[in-house]
Amino acid sequence: MTQKHTPWTTIVLLALAACGGGSDAPTTPTTPATPTTPTTPTTPTTTASPLRELAAAKGRSFGVALDAKFFANDAAYNALVAREFDMVVAGNVMKWEPLNRNGRFTYRWANPDALVAFAQTNGMKVRGHTLAWHQQNPTWLTGATWSADTLRQLLKEHVDSVVGHYKGKIHAWDVVNEALNDGSGSLRTTGSPWAPALGRDYIDVAFTEARRVDPGALLFYNDYNLEFPGAKQDSAFALIQGMKARNVPIDGIGFQAHLQVGGGATAPSRQALVNTFNRFAALGLKIEITELDVRVRTPGATAADLAAQAQAYGDVVAACLAVSACDAILVWGVNDGESWINTTFPGWGQALLFDDALGTKATYTAVRTALGG
Ligand code: G3I
Repeated sequence: MTQKHTPWTTIVLLALAACGGGSDAPTTPTTPATPTTPTTPTTPTTTASPLRELAAAKGRSFGVALDAKFFANDAAYNALVAREFDMVVAGNVMKWEPLNRNGRFTYRWANPDALVAFAQTNGMKVRGHTLAWHQQNPTWLTGATWSADTLRQLLKEHVDSVVGHYKGKIHAWDVVNEALNDGSGSLRTTGSPWAPALGRDYIDVAFTEARRVDPGALLFYNDYNLEFPGAKQDSAFALIQGMKARNVPIDGIGFQAHLQVGGGATAPSRQALVNTFNRFAALGLKIEITELDVRVRTPGATAADLAAQAQAYGDVVAACLAVSACDAILVWGVNDGESWINTTFPGWGQALLFDDALGTKATYTAVRTALGG
């Protein structure tokens, strides 16, 4: 295979030298060793273009969420990530609790810094996930009662600290994640540190502050179950319409696309996705599929389930390619075994592109085919 870029084996050797350790405790990223040309460069085992090259040829990014396995410095895993993907997002370490669990003014930057360093070494964009959410908030925040004014200040302070720390290094921020209730699409207040006291105003505060701190980062609203028409999708549309009317800065919408097929569940068709993406693109928004996975019954997936799963992956990619405002697709994990699905939806799984031996699956082939590979 003619290398169109620095041999990924060299890139990965440099990247691994820049990566932090692998545990939940913050590790100080090792300073990158002086780049050395491998004495016996290993020939990549695959001759086919990786997903990142196929996507780039279509003007898209194809990315992945990274979590504990990445920080464990698994060389084969990280080499696969560097080879196949050109965008990364932290599955956890950039969220408020992992960053700020030790106190209001102490931030655990080591692991997210190592992820950003790996991305920079490997020519990858970084999605920042996430600044304001109802989950994974530190106990010092959720365990106290704050006035509305203080809550606004705390939110601005967090945005200033995190967006400021990564200024110029983030392609897009999920500024606000999952602000709407499932079903009705009403404003989510349960579990939210923000909405009970501030209502929807917290959303405006977060987006406005993020723009002020890093004007170069795209600002996204991110949510799930928006892929299907209905009250929640309508509510998200109205939310963003209102933000636009108030001149609150917002650049895009993230469709998480946590999909399920089999046992009566179906994924949205290619055309249904195109219609949805075009609906939001008409607001002047970029579209990104931010957390794609397609779960099937595990154990017990039938051949028809697996075929429908591959079809769903292909349809999401095809729909993104059919809508010019769609510029990125990210899968929420590398291999099936690391997926959040396994612990959240017992009896479901096998949701990703690679098996636990890091071999490609029919879902990977479906993505390749849809990308023109
Ligand atoms: O960091 C702690 C660690 O200190 C502790 O020892 C360990 C055992 O209790 O828990 C660790 O935290 C876990 C964290 O993942 C990091 O591994 C949390 O318990 C666990 O709940 C958390 O799960 C994450 C989940 O969000 C939280 O809702 C998943 O990994 C992550 O993939 C998932 O991602 C979300 C997106 O952010 C938003 N969209 C939905 C998606 C799936 O829920």
